[in-house]
Amino acid sequence: MDLIAILFIQNNISITYARDLIFIAYVGHLVELLWEFNSCVKSRYKYFSPTEKEGLLIVKMTFWETIIYFLTDNTYISSMHIFLIGYMGSGKSYWANKLAAYYGIPFMDIDDEITTQEALSISEIFNTKGEAYFRKLEHTILQQIISTKEEKIIACGGGTPCFYNNMKNMKSAGITIWLNIPTNILLQRLQLEQAKRPLLQDIDDIKVFIEKQLQKREMYYKQADIIINNTNISIEEFVKTIQHV
Ligand code: S3P
Repeated sequence: MDLIAILFIQNNISITYARDLIFIAYVGHLVELLWEFNSCVKSRYKYFSPTEKEGLLIVKMTFWETIIYFLTDNTYISSMHIFLIGYMGSGKSYWANKLAAYYGIPFMDIDDEITTQEALSISEIFNTKGEAYFRKLEHTILQQIISTKEEKIIACGGGTPCFYNNMKNMKSAGITIWLNIPTNILLQRLQLEQAKRPLLQDIDDIKVFIEKQLQKREMYYKQADIIINNTNISIEEFVKTIQHV
């Protein structure tokens, strides 16, 4: 039987902190436990109040997970990260920033981590060390982020889900959201930035290139837990969409 703990959480409390409180409460028998819960909690932690940052937090764990949680330093239970994926120019960093501010949890951008670690721009890494080197680094940094305890909103690079087993790993470490932006809008945005983007720098017809690459990448993007087809929305509407899925 799974154990379900329910806690009323206060404005902006971090999920990790709330989870710790639940277990303190659980040990002290303050939380009423509970019944078998078979249905809707896909993720272990879920806010139940989409518009306000408070509400009921429900945690579902198996009996043995609970025991291991107490016997270890509590890191056994992995964090629930939120990963934003999608093609270049789809607005991943923009929305990751917004979500991070909304939930009051940290934001990370994989490309930023790579440039900091290498002290080179993404273009310089592609041009001097090659794409294979970049992809390996991207994978390593993703793994480092995934293994941290504190929940984060993570803006991925456009290619992150399509290399190594990154998509599978992200899905098991949290919630993946695909910003599925129409090709013509991506094109408009990327035409303005072609020179800055290593994958597009030497391409004559970027429309054809984007269409072909999207065709290959869609099989990865489509695996996302949540697909956002319209990003002409407010942060509140964005959050509502996530929580209604
Ligand atoms: C890439 C997307 C870029 C960056 C690199 C490769 C891709 O990230 O990681 O240029 O393969 O689509 P953004 O999508 O954040 O621009």
